[in-house]
Amino acid sequence: MNLIIMGAPGVGKGTQAVRIADALHIPHISTGDIFREAVSKGTELGKKAKTYMDSGDLVPDDIVIGIVFERITRDDCGGGFILDGFPRTAYQAEELDKALEKTKNKIDTVLLIDAEEDEVIQRITGRRVCRNCGAVFHVFFNPSLKENFCDKCQGELYQRDDDKVDTATKRYRIYIKQTSPLINYYKEKNILRKINGKKSVDEVFSEVKKTINV
Ligand code: AP5
Repeated sequence: MNLIIMGAPGVGKGTQAVRIADALHIPHISTGDIFREAVSKGTELGKKAKTYMDSGDLVPDDIVIGIVFERITRDDCGGGFILDGFPRTAYQAEELDKALEKTKNKIDTVLLIDAEEDEVIQRITGRRVCRNCGAVFHVFFNPSLKENFCDKCQGELYQRDDDKVDTATKRYRIYIKQTSPLINYYKEKNILRKINGKKSVDEVFSEVKKTINV
């Protein structure tokens, strides 16, 4: 099954995508994670992406598209994949459809996780991420057992540079302007499924599972 998970920054896409990927045994492809890994390794891609990410802007389409297409054509995507954070512009969505058509493939379902601005800003600004394994916590909604340290690997938790309130608010505005038009794009293809993101992580996942029959 080829899935896209979309929604505002901080709505819980990554949290749900990890669970979905696990349940379906498919790779979770997060463009944000790919860029953050490149930044931490100091690669050319990381250097290019960092300036855009730190200021909350989108990385240019041509950079993102090449990375995603290379990733979805790897062998482990033969049984499907879940895209998280891609596509984010109309151009990215159209190019993805064209690329999949060439291999007689398509997106089966687009999960739209829905919540209001104040909720997502609260989720973003309280997020803490493990420097070592990437596990995601929240200071109120999902705190680690030992403050500032990961439950899974004891790595140090940090706040992403783009998770400060000003940058988070800018990212939300960019989502509304550039990414939310994709809701109609996928509605017209009749593959969009809206999920109520305002519930707990477990409740959201239950709704996701029902929606995709897992
Ligand atoms: P990216 O990493 O994709 O950021 P994003 O879309 O803004 O999404 P987030 O990672 O912030 O949030 P999420 O929805 O995954 O939420 P999470 O599950 O962590 O992209 C970062 C940057 O990279 C972009 O700004 C851009 O510069 C660049 N980029 C990436 N892709 C690009 C593309 N295609 N084109 C151009 N540029 C691109 O949850 C958030 C918090 O809430 C966590 O603390 C979590 O524990 C908590 N939480 C989750 N669910 C719940 C719940 N149900 N109840 C309570 N708390 C919850």
